[in-house]
Amino acid sequence: MKQVYMDYAASTPVDSDVIKSMMPYFSKTYGNPSSTHKHGRLALQAVEHARKQVSSCFNVDPETFLFTSGGTEADNLALKGIAFQHLPKDLGKGPHIITSTIEHPAVLQTCKQLEAYGYSIAYLPVDETGLIDLDQLKETITEDTQLISIMYANNEIGTIEPVEKIGNIAHKHNVLFHTDAVQAVGKIPIDLSKLPIDLLSISSHKIYGPKGVGALYHTKDITFDPLFQGGGHEQGKRSGTLNTPGIVGLGKACELSQKRLKKDISQLEQMSDYFIKRLFEIESSTLNGHPTKRLVNNIHFRFKGIEGNALHSLLDEKGISIATGSACSSKKIQASHVLLALGLTPEEAISSIRFTIGRLTTKEEIDYVLPIVKESINHLRSISPLWKSNK
Ligand SMILES: Cc1ncc(COP(=O)(O)O)c(C=O)c1O
Repeated sequence: MKQVYMDYAASTPVDSDVIKSMMPYFSKTYGNPSSTHKHGRLALQAVEHARKQVSSCFNVDPETFLFTSGGTEADNLALKGIAFQHLPKDLGKGPHIITSTIEHPAVLQTCKQLEAYGYSIAYLPVDETGLIDLDQLKETITEDTQLISIMYANNEIGTIEPVEKIGNIAHKHNVLFHTDAVQAVGKIPIDLSKLPIDLLSISSHKIYGPKGVGALYHTKDITFDPLFQGGGHEQGKRSGTLNTPGIVGLGKACELSQKRLKKDISQLEQMSDYFIKRLFEIESSTLNGHPTKRLVNNIHFRFKGIEGNALHSLLDEKGISIATGSACSSKKIQASHVLLALGLTPEEAISSIRFTIGRLTTKEEIDYVLPIVKESINHLRSISPLWKSNK
């Protein structure tokens, strides 16, 4: 059976050049980058080369990036690292961290944990397209606010937040700004030398690199507490033996992503425009998220009278991989917190599905998938009492 992968926001295939770059670091140059002998020095050279590749992708100095085990750790480190600089008892009652209701669980659950420790968190609502309100952000900041954490682009609906404006507001109030750019990298040019961003999280497996590696950008003068205590790696900010092959892979993936950015964006834009246009041919279909301020690879639709999970299963049986919510929550049958935050009813939310396309997606694949999607929706509607009663 033909297999079509349309879940690039969950993970991407590792680029063959990335695999090639990683191979020597498993069993040839396998030394610990912290060791001072030749084996160690060679591994360290590779790590530092990767740091240069990552940082030049964002036009900043290498020492502003530290390596982590992925986007989740980078988010945890940014939020807890800043929060732990002051204990709640030493802070006022205003919000210590301001975030949004549509963040990835790596941010939201970290905030929940910090709340349980006594920190005060403000969760900004979003409008029906997924954008935060900048006036509301300004009004929410108090003298107790240490950090604003708003994602660059949402992983479910693809809405792109106005990060430059958010950063300017944060800095005007002397507040640090963190953004989770896990989904934005490779789809939006990000020049950190020009943007008012203090901390930024990235993940390798969303940009054709290996899983289990990521990085946190931090401006040079910023201080934060480490999450892990140990051997003081990464200038004491992230202890733990460095994952040399993974880091080398992330470096190469960033280099390729930078080189291909224009091409990737225009290719993805063309294909998602076409896909969206064709999906609108289906009766009672609605695009979730923002009509224009959206990631070029995100196609998030709701189809009246169907259940996203049922459509997901039918497509899966036919070899087509998509998502209903975010990958991390796809096993839970509850409406996505992001879709509910847009003001959708639970019924509308569960009738939604997400296609995310990537470098390997072709127009032929889209043309193959479209009639199967249409047929499956027709079938589900034909057995849906909800759809019949609406007719
Ligand atoms: C926006 C966002 N943040 C963080 C993460 C977590 O990244 P990782 O899988 O590298 O831990 C993801 C992964 O889906 C994501 O989409």
